[in-house]
Order: sequence, then structure tokens, then C-alpha cells
Amino acid sequence: MCGRELDYVKKAFESNYIAPVGPQLDQFEELFSEITGLPHCVAVANGTSAIHLMLRCIGIKPGDLVLASTLTFIGSVAGAKYLGADLGFIDCDYDTWNMDIDVLEKEIESLLKSGIKPAAVLPTENYGQPCDVDRLRSVCDRYEIPLVMDCAETVGATYKGQHVGHGVKAAAFSFNGNKIVTTSGGGMVTSDDGALIDHARYLANQAKQPGWQYEHHEIGYNYRLSNILAAIGISQLEVIEQRVQRKREIFNQYKDELAEVPGIRFMPDVSYGVGNRWLTAVMIDEKEFGVDNIAVMTGLEAENIESRPIWRPLHTQKVFANCRVAGGQVAESINRQGICLPSGTSMSNEDVTRICKTIRSLCKTRSLRETG
Ligand SMILES: Cc1ncc(COP(=O)(O)O)c(C=O)c1O
Repeated sequence: MCGRELDYVKKAFESNYIAPVGPQLDQFEELFSEITGLPHCVAVANGTSAIHLMLRCIGIKPGDLVLASTLTFIGSVAGAKYLGADLGFIDCDYDTWNMDIDVLEKEIESLLKSGIKPAAVLPTENYGQPCDVDRLRSVCDRYEIPLVMDCAETVGATYKGQHVGHGVKAAAFSFNGNKIVTTSGGGMVTSDDGALIDHARYLANQAKQPGWQYEHHEIGYNYRLSNILAAIGISQLEVIEQRVQRKREIFNQYKDELAEVPGIRFMPDVSYGVGNRWLTAVMIDEKEFGVDNIAVMTGLEAENIESRPIWRPLHTQKVFANCRVAGGQVAESINRQGICLPSGTSMSNEDVTRICKTIRSLCKTRSLRETG
């Protein structure tokens, strides 16, 4: 928390809108639009529901095929399954850790040859790293497939000078407790298309027809964000720039302090945008470092330092055993070697130094042991 949340929550209480509607909710949406330049948005209960709603609004229906990133969190694709769609997974590349656009293109071509037209492409922007939207769009436009983006982790990140989420049919964001800014739980659907967002708002509000009668022509969802939680979100959005700056400082400190350690590879920086470095993610090369990522995570835990593995690729999950996958080896190798290091913005520089010291002590290759 940044310290001003309770002031806004107090205002929400004073407004007496202890409900999924109210002035703080309106203000949160307006502020999000202002900060991101994304003209239309609707705040919802979480990122998973935002993605579900976004897919429903672009018309995804049972039997459709949605092409998604394999290196991602399950919340990215659950919405497609809620709608009865099938999933096809696409590998990522080492340069971005995001969807490999060449693999995507080949997969679309091969699907089209067998008479299957994907209904949507849904890449994830991993760990705060923006996707190359122009390249993705040129592929999707060529085959007339809607492109929607999972920006759950990239609030505050930019692509070619603009906030991420532009240039796609719709985008979804998360304000989960672990994200760069949070409402405890929350999400947002955005689009350049005002009619799409109006539709999303209507569906998120139980698809209630205008007017005071409880009239419904279709089934919607109870997905709106609480006014109280939106109040938390307002104060969080006010500090988004500082948050991104601090996240990037933490990443740079890790990079500097671990520069001499053999076998540590950081998630790369892309040239076309600025990631928010939501999590500092690295790969450990066991041969060069001397032990594997699990040994590093265990060693950190012994010092009471929490770390996390990289997403387990979705094509390797039991629940998706029958899904198509294009490639997958890059995602598997990043998962096999990866670690998300502690990245909380409330960490001090001394905390980061202590973590780096612990990582250095875990390195079992000779040169480092000799130099200490
Ligand atoms: C890539 C990705 N997609 C979707 C989600 C789902 O968001 P939420 O937890 O707000 O439902 C998350 C995060 O939790 C995520 O990291």
C-alpha cells in the first residue's frame, strides 16, 4: 500500500456505496483511462473474469479455437474454457519470453491448411514484458483473426511510447494482490471500441436490460468490481510511475550485483518498449552455475527468502493433455531453469544485496568459490 488508500476508502464509506457501483468505481475507471490513454474500460472482479468477459465480447463460443501462450498462468486461458472453446498453445521465444510470433504464424498457416480457422489469438505479456503488438497484429490481420491481449502483469509498461493495451481488439489487466498495483482483487477490460466495452459492462452487470424492471435477454455475470476496492485502486494508480521505477531499479540492482556470477541469465529487455519488471525473472544454467534452479530456490528458502518458479507451461498440464501445442521446448526450458526472485517494491537495497549474497554463496563453480 502507498499510504493514501484509507483516505479513499473512507470517501467510499462516506458515499455509502458499499456496492459494485459508485463514485470511486467511476473515478478508478476514469483514472485508468487517463493514465493509460486507453479510451474505454470497465473494472471487474479480477483479471480472470476480465479475460473471460473480453473473449465473450469478441464472440468466442463453444468449439472455437483460441491460440494462447503456453508460458503463462492458468487464469489467462480459463475464460476460453468457460466459454466452451478449445485451446491451442504457442511457444515463447528466448528474446522476450512472450509468444513466439514466427511459431504463431506457422501454426495459423498449418491450421488453415487443415480447414481450421482460429477464432482469436490471446498472448500473455509475461512478468511485465510488453509484446510486439505491431508484429502480432500484422500476422493476425493477414488472416483476419482478432487479437486480444492478456496484460494482467503489465500495468505501467509501455509499447512504442504508449501504455500497453493499445492496438489490439481488447486487453485485460489484473489488480490481484501480487500485482504491481492492486485492489486486493480486481481487473479491467479495455478497448478502443466503446461498443465492446458497453457490452462488457452490461454482461458484467448480470446482462440487465436498461430500465428498472429486472429484464434479461441473455445470461451475464456478476463481475463488477466493488466500489470499496476501486477506492484502493485509485490511490494505487497514483503511484504507478514510482512503482515501475522501483521495480526496474530492483531488476538493475540484481543484474549489477550478479553480473560476475556464471550461469545466470536475466529475462531480456526488449527494444520496442519498456517493461514494468513486475518480477525479476532469471534462468540458472546448471552447468555454469554448479547447481540447478531448485537448489537455488531451496537455498534461498533456508535463508527465509521466498522465490517462485517460472510458470509451468500450460501444454504440460494434465488438464490440457488433449490440446494442440506448437513448439513448447523454449517454454519448457525457461520453466526448467527459471526463478522469479523477490521483487516487492517495499524491499530495501540492503534486502536485494542480501539475496544476491545468498545466490552467490549457492554458486558451486570454481571461479566464484575462488573469488568468494
Ligand atoms: C498472466 C496472467 N493472466 C491472468 C491472471 C489472472 O488475474 P487474476 O488473478 O486477477 O484473476 C494473472 C494473475 O493472477 C496473470 O498473471
